[in-house]
Amino acid sequence: MTKRIREDVQLGRDVVIHDFVNLYGCTIGDETRIGPFVEIQEGVTIGARCKIQSHTFICSGTVVEDEVFIGHGVMFTNDRFPRATNDLGELAGPDDWICEPMRVARGATIGSGAILLPGVTVGERALVGAGAVVTKDVPRGAVVIGHPARVRIANVLPRETHTAPAPLLATLGGPLRDDDRIPLVDLRAQHDEIAERVRGGFARVLETSDFILGDEVSAFEARFAELCEVGHCVGVGSGTDALEFSLRALGVCPGDEVILPCNSFVASAAAVVHAGAIPVFVDVDPGTYLLDVNQVSDRIHPRTRAIVPVHLYGQLAPMEPLMAVASEHGIPIVEDGAQSQGARWLGRPAGSFGDVAATSFYPGKNLGAYGDAGAVVTNDENIADRVRALRNHGSRVKYEHPELGFNSRLDTLQAVVLNAKLEHLAQWNEWRRARAAVYGELLRHLDGVVLPAVAPGNEHVWHLYVIRVPRRDEVLGHLHEYGIGAAIHYPTPIHLQGAFRDLGYSMGDFPVAERAAREILSLPMYPHITRVQQERVVEALEQALR
Ligand SMILES: Cc1ncc(COP(=O)(O)O)c(C=O)c1O
Repeated sequence: MTKRIREDVQLGRDVVIHDFVNLYGCTIGDETRIGPFVEIQEGVTIGARCKIQSHTFICSGTVVEDEVFIGHGVMFTNDRFPRATNDLGELAGPDDWICEPMRVARGATIGSGAILLPGVTVGERALVGAGAVVTKDVPRGAVVIGHPARVRIANVLPRETHTAPAPLLATLGGPLRDDDRIPLVDLRAQHDEIAERVRGGFARVLETSDFILGDEVSAFEARFAELCEVGHCVGVGSGTDALEFSLRALGVCPGDEVILPCNSFVASAAAVVHAGAIPVFVDVDPGTYLLDVNQVSDRIHPRTRAIVPVHLYGQLAPMEPLMAVASEHGIPIVEDGAQSQGARWLGRPAGSFGDVAATSFYPGKNLGAYGDAGAVVTNDENIADRVRALRNHGSRVKYEHPELGFNSRLDTLQAVVLNAKLEHLAQWNEWRRARAAVYGELLRHLDGVVLPAVAPGNEHVWHLYVIRVPRRDEVLGHLHEYGIGAAIHYPTPIHLQGAFRDLGYSMGDFPVAERAAREILSLPMYPHITRVQQERVVEALEQALR
């Protein structure tokens, strides 16, 4: 045998692979050519029509887009401080590596013998000279050479019109083109990594006409339950429905009260109303913006039927003290895990704490579908059974409807996407953590900026990177002019939303959330954001704060 290509390698059409390669757990796009003695590791994605010459090593964490040329003996590296042994003195295994994502954008060229250090991005159609040691991101179209690699030619590509204001141009060193704009969330790079699988999965569903529920949905439900370390997952049409069905399955009835934080997306409270109950809000912690557990006991009344902690922005609400209060009063907990897929507290995953948990796979979520989707997870067989009926017109046996339910099943084509993305979630969350660390480093010296706090024990998955700034609305306006897709999550606390007017809350009821709503700002955050992009965001922010 002259090739080792493990079974889990996904090969596109007309791929040519020479002898003596070692490929495992990677994806290779159509018409790509791979020379002898090349090793490509687990999780790597290589695009279509690439040429990879002999003796090259491409490590986990790397994405190579379409039409990239990689010369002979190119070395990618992913862990900044690799060690043979871990902190326990054991030989380091796969879980001990801390991979920083690497990306070679479409049409780039990497010369023979180049070395790429962890976390760098080589921009579109950039050229890395032979033997260069790339220590930081290479801009689009640039030519870099030497050790450390330095820019020899700034841009070999034609320049286009600029839209950014003059002061920014001065610091960013050049015109902002449309594709230099930095969105709040960029889903395209995620799609590039799973495009082959999605195409294959869609084709399978179309061939079998297995459009409602079916194998893709049950496979996803089993995998997502495993991720959350619970016994059951029931896929539904949206995160809002997942919350409503969870509350209904717990027996929440009209007139019951449900306690939840006032700083969340409106759906957390809307679902309570849809289930017939009354939202009872509490304020949030000024550091984490998560539910303030000290306010919960005072809001518990005889009609309190559930508590909904929201794992906001990617970290878990304070579950330990909250569970103590809930069990003292015998009140069930419904976790709102829409923003926290893969997050953990002391090693235990979001979704495994409450009696039941709801999540959303809205496209921008850490695990996002290509449309609306959601899920309920629980260890309680009765709750799972009830939700399964609720999502399917109240039916457990075809055409028998002992109660009315809803038409809200997880769509089969969305399940194809979710199955493909689930395999990348751990890596993407790790990249988000690496990117949050970069923001922390870049923002530390900016006066007036309050960095996000991570509550002790939390393994944050950075769905959003939320800072606080003075003159927030003015700063936000400047960032938008500079082409930076910053946003606010959320500009109005739920108790002040018109839709909840009848509940009788007013300004001043929850001062922490109300003040936060005036000061918070979400910066662009997604797994594939590059250091160069983050530096631009921070430069623009610095200008806006002047
Ligand atoms: C905290 C929170 N809860 C609930 C939802 C509702 O999810 P969906 O939009 O899928 O209905 C969302 C997301 O949009 C959310 O962010």
